[in-house]
Amino acid sequence: MSTLVIFGGAGDLAGRLLFPALVRLEGRGLLGDIRIVGYGLEDYDDAQFAEHVKSKVDAEPHIWTGFSRRLSYRVGGLGVEAVSSLMADMSDDHNVFYLALPPGLFPVAATAISESGLAALGRPRLVVEKPFGTDRSTAADLNRTLHEHWSEQQIFRIDHFLGKETVQNLSVMRFANRVLEPLLCAAHVDHVQITVAETLGVEGRYRYYDGIGALRDMIQNHLMQLFCLAAMEPPPVWEPEVLRDHKVEVLRSVRSPDAAVDTWAARGRYGPGTIDGRPVTGYLEEPGIETGSTTETFAAVRLHVDNWRWQGVPFYLRSGKRLATPVSEIAYRFREAPTQLFHHTPLADVQPNWLVFRLNPPEGIDLHLQTKTPGLEMSATASRLHADYGSITETTTAYEQLLLDVIDGDHTPFLRVDEVDEAWRLLDPVLDSWDSTTPPTYASGSDGPADQHSIMLDGQTWRPLSSTPA
Ligand code: BG6
Repeated sequence: MSTLVIFGGAGDLAGRLLFPALVRLEGRGLLGDIRIVGYGLEDYDDAQFAEHVKSKVDAEPHIWTGFSRRLSYRVGGLGVEAVSSLMADMSDDHNVFYLALPPGLFPVAATAISESGLAALGRPRLVVEKPFGTDRSTAADLNRTLHEHWSEQQIFRIDHFLGKETVQNLSVMRFANRVLEPLLCAAHVDHVQITVAETLGVEGRYRYYDGIGALRDMIQNHLMQLFCLAAMEPPPVWEPEVLRDHKVEVLRSVRSPDAAVDTWAARGRYGPGTIDGRPVTGYLEEPGIETGSTTETFAAVRLHVDNWRWQGVPFYLRSGKRLATPVSEIAYRFREAPTQLFHHTPLADVQPNWLVFRLNPPEGIDLHLQTKTPGLEMSATASRLHADYGSITETTTAYEQLLLDVIDGDHTPFLRVDEVDEAWRLLDPVLDSWDSTTPPTYASGSDGPADQHSIMLDGQTWRPLSSTPA
């Protein structure tokens, strides 16, 4: 018997993401004998909590019947005495403590679980969500507090991008196919672009987002993880610690940041504009945003990996809200062909090849090639080889994968302390430089701020967001 205790069990994260994923796992018969205990300040009894959870999930009656039997609820705060009331719910096998709480409460909750004696029973695991601190020093403080009570092996730091089917597929595509991997190196690749563009704005999350911004919310974690997976060496075995060592190695290989931050980092904040034909307000006019806020809603950085594989190949990372189109992709741009055989024909101007891993719909892999335009003239047409894996993602959500991995104790898709620290090391200078100055504005529904182009090296330009075929 195992127990999953969700701190903040009646809260937003639990209702929006955790319970729907757990119910889907129930439907697949993957929850074993686990009991699920919601814990929080809301004054529910077990039946009221079950009703609350039911309103958040979409479960067929027979699945709900099985799932609801697992549920119970305990009312309490984060004092040691209150938390120790969970003692009777502990099992002698796995006890998973999921902190679905505001990040400021992680230290007190992690400490209370340990000091109440709950972590001494069975095999305890602690799950924390990003953001892990707001800069390198606050992340170190958080990790120090966690480590006073929990070993690194007991901690599962969630970055939900690592649970996405398409992100996991990136590693399979890279390392299970002989045909791709030899090409992904400085000899063939000119540069790499990693983009996560959203059309959504801050959507009422102002309490969390204002003061955090795109660099902390997206680049430090999700995009840095995509960067590691795109750049890492093939590991000798697919084991959690080996994989995490290889990801950290990428971050450690990044050239020390240049003091002139504006040459390699850019930002912006959305102003009013149009999304899907609908007028939208700017960030500053959003409900709840502080007057004079300097929070960025778009961030871009250029990184250089100083190792043999990637010497001289810039990696560009960008993410923003309220942009023209939702795009989530890793795009390798290849160098031009070494000799130009067709220089005396209209083919002299052939476009370079791209290999694009598309992480959001329509998920798949595109290889952009030049092919001859049928006809008498020697001219080229851009063609696209497309491998589609959209249908797979409809069946599995990131949180299903991650919850299952926590329950199984598999650290593969979770961040280790040194990954978090190294990512902050690289980005701290940007935070210092941007501190309290105002970001430039970009129109909602555009491709983002003009400043993003200033970090590109000669001959390299951002892919237009609309270049991604539907
Ligand atoms: C979250 C960020 O971690 O990821 C959000 O806090 C962002 O701001 C979201 O919108 C994007 O995730 P997904 O899974 O919707 O691509």
